Amino acid sequence: MSNAYSKDLERWMPRLIAVWRASRGRGDGPETRLTPQEVKEVGAGVRQLSLGLTRERQLAGARYMDDPRLLGAYLLFYWPVSYAQARQVLGELPNRPRQVLDLGSGPGPVAFAAMDAGASEVTAADRSKAALNLARALATEAGEALATREWDPTKKAAALPEGQFDLITMGHVLNELYGTGEGATAPRAALLEAALAKVKRGGSLLVMEPALRETSRGLLHVRDAMVERGYAVRAPCMYRGACPALLKETDWCHAERPWPMPRVVEELARAASLHKEALKMSYLVLAPKGEGWPELTPGRLFRIVSEPLEGKGRRRYIGCGPEGRVGLAMQEKHRTERNERFLKLNRGDVISVTETEPKGDGLALDDRTEVRVVAPAGKGVPPPPPPSKEDAPSSPGTPGPGAPS
Ligand SMILES: C[S@@+](CC[C@H](N)C(=O)[O-])C[C@H]1O[C@@H](n2cnc3c(N)ncnc32)[C@H](O)[C@@H]1O
Repeated sequence: MSNAYSKDLERWMPRLIAVWRASRGRGDGPETRLTPQEVKEVGAGVRQLSLGLTRERQLAGARYMDDPRLLGAYLLFYWPVSYAQARQVLGELPNRPRQVLDLGSGPGPVAFAAMDAGASEVTAADRSKAALNLARALATEAGEALATREWDPTKKAAALPEGQFDLITMGHVLNELYGTGEGATAPRAALLEAALAKVKRGGSLLVMEPALRETSRGLLHVRDAMVERGYAVRAPCMYRGACPALLKETDWCHAERPWPMPRVVEELARAASLHKEALKMSYLVLAPKGEGWPELTPGRLFRIVSEPLEGKGRRRYIGCGPEGRVGLAMQEKHRTERNERFLKLNRGDVISVTETEPKGDGLALDDRTEVRVVAPAGKGVPPPPPPSKEDAPSSPGTPGPGAPS
């Protein structure tokens, strides 16, 4: 599996291994892989992190980054995952960020992803000194400059790092702040609002969270609070109302993308008895106050927010677009050249459809329907085309089309 960032990720793997060995006081080993003993040892840490951050969640908000064994496991397993997730989502930003602040950076996967995507001044901030030390060691190993700052928003009078930024990122940290349950939404939204005040016009705040039901729904609640306060969503939502995925307790919203999984990650997943074939994350890109929702290319647009739901002789997905969350279904017998793309869509693709009929609680596509992918998963939805000369209103004194010259 080759992505635009495969080569960059490949370059990071020996650096992660070298920095991990140095931090654990280990001698040299093979550059691009772990020894079987190392895989076993680190795999046990990965398993502990995985249970603690996903299934049981008792590590969420705990100081696991200050335990060298768990920090090492994070570096060799979760770092590449977060890096790849961030590269995917950064591909959807409307412009390339130069000055970036990465909050809750840990050892910096999102910070370095921003750097590799073209950022020139990057600051990583976290409460864990040990994690920031590793981020600095990685920067040295890569020959990059990275500023670091200690930061903990739950401490009284904790200020955000100074400056204005093109992009502020928060990778898998929001769910660790302010406890659990609905009481966490207001302080999380207040933190995002404070961060957005430090984002330059045209810039973005990017929040990524684990694709678990609880953490994903937590993010959707924060999204709704931000939308209510007048903030616009750049991605992934095109619907401007309250998130329709919150209506049913069993629904949530996440992205899923194939990725070039490095061999070390594969070995560690196996050692920790985890399945990690695809990248799964929930994400939200917000615009600073005063900026409107993105203008979208014309058409009836839906983002595919489910996997393909097979039925007898038909293909079905859940789509979410400017008109809300809607089931989209097409019988295979209606396949034509103009709609066959519908039969092989990926979660995250944005499509335009024509000629649909309301059916049940969704829309039925048929042989009159045209289906176009306007943005494949991981790419931003294009803006409307600029008005052509014929459409442009003629200014006084300028002869309009057809006017005698
Ligand atoms: C799951 S890690 C994410 C690291 C990295 N951003 C990523 O995407 O892989 C969560 C990070 O949040 C940090 N964190 C948790 N609570 C924090 C707090 N109260 N203040 C600052 N950072 C915190 C942890 O130290 C850890 O580095």
